[in-house]
Amino acid sequence: MSTRDLFGEQVGAPECEALADGAVLLRGLVVKEAPALLRAINGVIARAPFRNMITPGGFTMSVAMTNCGRAGWLTDRKGYRYDGIDPETGQAWPELPEAFMRVARRASAAAGYGGFVPDACLVNRYEPGTRLSLHQDRNERDFTAPIVSVSLGLPAVFLFGGAERSDRPRRYRLEHGDVVVWGGPARLAFHGVAPLADGEHPSTGRLRFNLTMRKAL
Ligand code: SIN
Ligand code: FE2
Repeated sequence: MSTRDLFGEQVGAPECEALADGAVLLRGLVVKEAPALLRAINGVIARAPFRNMITPGGFTMSVAMTNCGRAGWLTDRKGYRYDGIDPETGQAWPELPEAFMRVARRASAAAGYGGFVPDACLVNRYEPGTRLSLHQDRNERDFTAPIVSVSLGLPAVFLFGGAERSDRPRRYRLEHGDVVVWGGPARLAFHGVAPLADGEHPSTGRLRFNLTMRKAL
């Protein structure tokens, strides 16, 4: 157990809340690293700008996305997949920043998934009103590796369900510096993000960013 001090900083050991068998919420785990993570996001988007991708069904996603790492997650009329090349630039995705790797290592170890080395990171940008409907992360080749998800900026309501789309998801408030890790029996859990409430965050303004680090290849 731990608490936050007056400034919302984590004090003592990380607070660890089980969301399901195999899934934990580590509140405030990366508050201190947040400025470095946001700077690293700026470095990524200088080379691979945010874009609104198209679903296979022809809808434009409200959440803007980009990637870094050896592979990037994509959706277009042809389907969902990973690709080593950014279709917008024709170039390889930017490298996974060292700050991302460090956080992935620390969070996965704290969640009980030792030895996790991500090779891909999807970077999501939420504006007020944008949402991510319930889905599974299942385009990765290897489901033995967990997903490490880092929240930055405005708070969001994270929906975390079960292995079936019809399992009613529970709702969790995710704040700046929180990390969710899911793997093992929860690896294919349905999850999503409720429409973002408007607000102003000292480090991101009217935005929320999310990093999901994966072993895609
Ligand atoms: C995702 O499922 O890709 C993102 C989850 C989040 O934004 O918290
Ligand atoms: Fe996801």
